[in-house]
Amino acid sequence: MTYRVGVIRGDGTGPEVVAEALKVLDAVRDGFDAELVDFELGADRYLRTGEVLPDEDLVRLAGCDAILLGAVGDPRVKPGILERDLLLRIRFELDQWVNLRPVIRYPGVQTLVPSHAEDDVNLVVVRENSEGLYSGAGGFHRKGTAHEVAVQESINTRHGVERIVRYSFELAASPERRGKLTLVHKTNVLTYAGDLYQRVVDELAKEHPSVETDYVHVDAACIYFLDQPSRFDVIVTDNMFGDIVTDLGAMIQGGMGIAAGGNINPDGVSMFEPIGGTAPSETGRGTINPLAAIGALQMLLRQLGEREAAERVDRGIRSATSRMKSMRAGEMGFTTSEVGDLVVEGAAT
Ligand code: IPM
Ligand code: MG
Repeated sequence: MTYRVGVIRGDGTGPEVVAEALKVLDAVRDGFDAELVDFELGADRYLRTGEVLPDEDLVRLAGCDAILLGAVGDPRVKPGILERDLLLRIRFELDQWVNLRPVIRYPGVQTLVPSHAEDDVNLVVVRENSEGLYSGAGGFHRKGTAHEVAVQESINTRHGVERIVRYSFELAASPERRGKLTLVHKTNVLTYAGDLYQRVVDELAKEHPSVETDYVHVDAACIYFLDQPSRFDVIVTDNMFGDIVTDLGAMIQGGMGIAAGGNINPDGVSMFEPIGGTAPSETGRGTINPLAAIGALQMLLRQLGEREAAERVDRGIRSATSRMKSMRAGEMGFTTSEVGDLVVEGAAT
């Protein structure tokens, strides 16, 4: 079996962390092959040619079995261009409607919340990834005048909400989770979108009697992430709330250096990425933590059905975290490449 794995190294520290993930892929590749298909996408290409994501590249991405992404974004490029026209365009065009973001605290990882025990933090955020406020609907009226109006609409379709809620129920009911699904929204204010989400949860709950359901407002969810994270198993939420709570999620799992996520199309091509950014100030210094990218690789292998290899990566990560001083850039006690070696070592055993 040979998988075509698209690789977008991207900007800033993206290439460094992807290199470590590929080193780990090479070490756990057993019984299958991976053909790496490199894509030169990101700030350098844009600044050189003006191209962000040409259609040919999109077609080639769609022909891969999975995609590994480093990070995109660059201080030289106006905010919004690479984010919208590259990252979000891939998510939308390949209909990667699930953004799966596990929040797991690995052994020995220190966080900013001293009251948390290691096993208090073990949840998965299922972020809707194809609509909501990210759909780009809206516009300006009288732009640049004193009477300017900026409208940004949240699009929530029955189809979109139903598929993400169904996915979340199935995940919560699976043996790897604890059978609890919490809707995180703001139904007391967003009385249309929130109402649709809540109705769909209530309807699908009848089909999944083994799953306990719960509801928490997004602002209160932020409190619980700090105060009582163990109340969460699987969280389902919309695109914008999911974006925000998963940054907080990353912090309670040890920081951006360890948080990985997948943009998943269950019937198509999925893309996995460390959820942190490009960390321009760390670029080229060997100080950035590659574990988030290695965690993304672990999710990619699992999605391809390579369970054994994924489990080896997971063991590698766990053995690395228990030896590292911190998950934060420059404070790990190891260089970027040494952390990759720790994972390879731990994945061998
Ligand atoms: C993320 C990022 C992106 C998002 C940005 C870069 C567009 O914050 O993956 O969480 O908002 O989805
Ligand atoms: Mg984000």
